[in-house]
Amino acid sequence: MKKVALGTVLAALISGPVFAYDTGDFIFRSGAITVSPDVSSSALALGSVALDGTAAEVADGTALSLIGTYMLRDHWGLEVIAATPFSHDLEVSGLGETFDLGETKHLPPTVMLQYYPLQASSSVQPYIGLGLNYTAFFDEEVSGEANAVFATLGASGDADLSLKNSTGMAAEAGVDIAFGADQRWLLNLAVWWMDIDTEARVDVPGVGKVAADVELDPLVYSAGFGYRF
Ligand code: NI
Repeated sequence: MKKVALGTVLAALISGPVFAYDTGDFIFRSGAITVSPDVSSSALALGSVALDGTAAEVADGTALSLIGTYMLRDHWGLEVIAATPFSHDLEVSGLGETFDLGETKHLPPTVMLQYYPLQASSSVQPYIGLGLNYTAFFDEEVSGEANAVFATLGASGDADLSLKNSTGMAAEAGVDIAFGADQRWLLNLAVWWMDIDTEARVDVPGVGKVAADVELDPLVYSAGFGYRF
């Protein structure tokens, strides 16, 4: 009986109707993804002394997204977001002219539980999701301009920048629009909000440690293509 049941299921899978977004379907999406931080920064502090009026700024970064969704069941998907590394320029404002502090790279792997409200057969599939983001910063570099500023403060060598990794909530909205003869190709647009908070520390030899709490809390946009397997 079990063999018959398995055979029947396999036959149904192989010859079944081409319905999108069924349980077990896998959807792959890739495209340009931009992390646009909505920065709020504490004043920089040198040791325990706050440098009033200063703040850290973080510019946008763009990368190539690699996003997979596995349909756990009808209407519900589990999404894993990966990307090539993002690179962001960092600036410090409030010390006379805004100066270029340096740059950092980061990877923000994110897992989302998604809800697709429309029927599995719909060729337009809007979705919303809620999940968890982990952001790992690496390759932090202090610019020559910043090292020159630190030298005027008495630095005895090049400064070292580090950003603390972050874990936080993420929310999203997106849409897949199917095209092609068998409706397996997709046009995808998506936006996420991610709670990414870090502590930036600049260790300036001979001067001390400069630190600031920086909330990045970016909007993340992606536009690209997908394929439903
Ligand atoms: Ni935050």
